[in-house]
Amino acid sequence: TEIKIFSPATVANVSCGFDVLGFCLDGIGDEMIVRKTPEKGIKITKIKGYDLPNEATKNVAGVAALALIEDAQPDCGFEIEIYKNIKPGSGVGSSSASASGSVFAINELLGRPYSKTQLTYFAMKGEALASGSEHADNIAPGIFGGFTLVKSTVPLEVVELPTPNDLFAVIIHPQIEIKTSEARAILPKDIPLKNAITQWANMGSLVHALHISDYQMIKRSLIDVVVEPYRSRLIPHYNEVKLAAFNKGALGCGISGSGPSIFTLCQGQIQAEQVELAMREVYSQTDIAFNTYSCKIN
Ligand code: HSE
Repeated sequence: TEIKIFSPATVANVSCGFDVLGFCLDGIGDEMIVRKTPEKGIKITKIKGYDLPNEATKNVAGVAALALIEDAQPDCGFEIEIYKNIKPGSGVGSSSASASGSVFAINELLGRPYSKTQLTYFAMKGEALASGSEHADNIAPGIFGGFTLVKSTVPLEVVELPTPNDLFAVIIHPQIEIKTSEARAILPKDIPLKNAITQWANMGSLVHALHISDYQMIKRSLIDVVVEPYRSRLIPHYNEVKLAAFNKGALGCGISGSGPSIFTLCQGQIQAEQVELAMREVYSQTDIAFNTYSCKIN
């Protein structure tokens, strides 16, 4: 009647896959305890870590859970405790982690009536509350793990991609605030055909490179000509961080989701450690507070 779950942070977009690609960060994430209650409905009974609304209809975990129970019509309700480690607005899928976590946990307590794709669909309803649009590029990797491609949202189709054995991610989070809705509002509605061609060529080759574990092809594919030119202006010292990461051999470096976190992909733990140090060095010389995190992608 009670379950404790871990809901991971995620990196969306992955340079060339705006709104469709994402990967899961094992080891950093929120914890949630969900328990069945005799009275129906959803109650958020505890939120620790960050100040978030505890009214179910105003909380992403609550909205996602409500979407699920509206469909499932269980003869019980659920109460949710949220222990947040992922700072809201940091760019590593904080709202998605809450939304995915609540539906994942409720599905377990109900005996798993829903598939991972259906859970992604319910969690998207929560995510929309936070970002103003229904995208699943953070939710899908949180629920499926590893790399995912959201092939379409209507109807929802998620493709699981393989992860090469020796692929590591490093994240640096400068403590400034960027709202996803604002980072979306500054993007142009239309893009030049030549940029579209570059982007879909890179996106296709990245997917292929993940399948054949070709690290150099991953490196040649992690390029973003569509979104980064606009959003990188919102992140102080972005170009310096990127240069520092590439100087240490990083395979790629880009904005994590809508920022301000910056991610790199690296081949092997040694390179990841060196890249992490080099990225830290950039912000150490400023008065911007930051933290870093690195892990193997599974
Ligand atoms: N794909 C989304 C964006 C992720 O970049 O706006 C953040 O929610």
